[in-house]
Amino acid sequence: MVDFGIVGCGHIAKKHVQALEEITDARLVAVCDNDLQRTVPFVQKHGARSYEIYKDFLEDPEVEAVIICTPSGLHAAMGEKAAHAGKHILLEKPFVLDLNEGKNLVELCKSKGVKLGVVHPNRAKAVVQALGKAVNGGWFDKITHASAMLRWNRVPEYFNIAAWRGTRELDGGILFNQAIHNIDLLNWLLGPVDEVFAYGATQLHNIEYEDVCVCTLKLKSGALGIIEAAVTLYPENLEESIAIFGSQGTAVLGGKSLSKILEWKFSCLTEAEAKCQIERLNNGLDAAGHKEVIGDFVKAITQNLEPLVSGKEALKVLYLVKAIYQSISTNQPVKVTTD
Ligand SMILES: NC(=O)c1ccc[n+]([C@@H]2O[C@H](COP(=O)([O-])OP(=O)(O)OC[C@H]3O[C@@H](n4cnc5c(N)ncnc54)[C@H](O)[C@@H]3O)[C@@H](O)[C@H]2O)c1
Repeated sequence: MVDFGIVGCGHIAKKHVQALEEITDARLVAVCDNDLQRTVPFVQKHGARSYEIYKDFLEDPEVEAVIICTPSGLHAAMGEKAAHAGKHILLEKPFVLDLNEGKNLVELCKSKGVKLGVVHPNRAKAVVQALGKAVNGGWFDKITHASAMLRWNRVPEYFNIAAWRGTRELDGGILFNQAIHNIDLLNWLLGPVDEVFAYGATQLHNIEYEDVCVCTLKLKSGALGIIEAAVTLYPENLEESIAIFGSQGTAVLGGKSLSKILEWKFSCLTEAEAKCQIERLNNGLDAAGHKEVIGDFVKAITQNLEPLVSGKEALKVLYLVKAIYQSISTNQPVKVTTD
């Protein structure tokens, strides 16, 4: 049994609590929020101890692992404090907004002997796992190009509901907040990326960062790629998709939240085999993946394994995001470096 504490009792914390309830060898013992009112439902419904001060929460000896669900710009500093307190750390995405802070946290967790995981639930989805198998199994043969699309709607209230949203300092930008999952998948499946060229624009929202971004990629493999991220779609979310094209395969995963196989054609599969795989995968539950991520983190702690997405692994997508932002600000192609 691993005893968890959650800091930041807002929107996403609810998913973590639900996941913890469904995992037999994990339980919620404490919650923390600097707005104490927000902890009330967690105390009433789940019997967790509540804290207003993060330092006091970290001193709770029963808390073995901390799930950090606070605004993104606070992740690094709060992670550092948790590591010093000897707690295992599962950080919501984006891992951090500053690469150096991320690198320091990875090193600190290593030296303190605590696990550091980052929540990228899309990687745990069955359709994505199947796509990973197809890529790693060479089903596409030569991969020619790929795309990741996030075409979502965010109403002004989404940004107005909390002061941190839409800010550079605490929210980061569309590539950190909304599109990080899709960029991570493209990079994880097909990376590393060699060079990027991108444009960003604030088209509709009254926020500090871009609400539309388009980016072209040259992958080290020679394949080309496109990322499109927008939170301006009328009148509702349209799609979250990833497509990979090769000389012997075509795969498109999509739906509003990347949950379905739309195209699945490979020369190594008969039509009947492909149809059977599509039916099996598309009839599975459209799980958000938080349960799988936490279940995996419990295993990482109890069996001394690397988490599904470790801090070190999560840094990889941040190098790419940094290069894309650099391209937007300089209006130049930018090489993706990892130092
Ligand atoms: N993995 C996903 O699919 C996913 C989805 C949504 C959000 N997120 C991430 O989760 C994080 C939180 O997002 P959210 O939508 O839940 O935000 P939210 O605003 O609903 O909740 C954040 C909570 O943190 C609390 N908080 C702020 N500063 C604090 C501090 N210093 N100490 C303690 N508590 C503090 C706030 O009072 C609030 O209750 C963000 O990093 C976001 O990117 C991930």
